[in-house]
Amino acid sequence: MIREIVKYPDPILQRPTEPVTEFNDELRALVDDMFESMYAAQGIGLAAPQIGVSKRLTVIDLSFQKDPKEKIVLINPEIIHKEGKQVEEEGCLSLPDIREKVSRAFKVRVRAQDLKENWFEIDGEELLARAFQHEIDHLDGVLFIFRVSALKRDLLLRKIRKLQRAGEW
Ligand code: NI
Repeated sequence: MIREIVKYPDPILQRPTEPVTEFNDELRALVDDMFESMYAAQGIGLAAPQIGVSKRLTVIDLSFQKDPKEKIVLINPEIIHKEGKQVEEEGCLSLPDIREKVSRAFKVRVRAQDLKENWFEIDGEELLARAFQHEIDHLDGVLFIFRVSALKRDLLLRKIRKLQRAGEW
């Protein structure tokens, strides 16, 4: 089922999520909904709070549905290693039409659980590392507009208010 994407400034996007403790059919259905909602919104990553569920869970697919092997489900993820630096433009389904350059680690290692409750580790570089960091930030209640300088953030917040006033948000 396609769920509506929650947009900034909804408070659910700005608070830390609860760990996932039940690995059941409900969780599997939630993951299916997250992939479906992400594809419908043309995204490459989606965190549970973005569909109104405050759980520590995110899905990523950089291939955008072209390669099933690239579907990644991260349950209760943590970044356990960071290396290097990259500065690239980011966007977010909860912040439509907002893009800004964000500094991130170039390479990260994530520890997470899969749908069968097993812990695993996964490495990512470049765009995948960026997606891991962006999505795990969501699970900590942090949006990418709070990862830029105060000056840039003010400009972005002003742009958002302008879009809201124009009824385009
Ligand atoms: Ni996002």
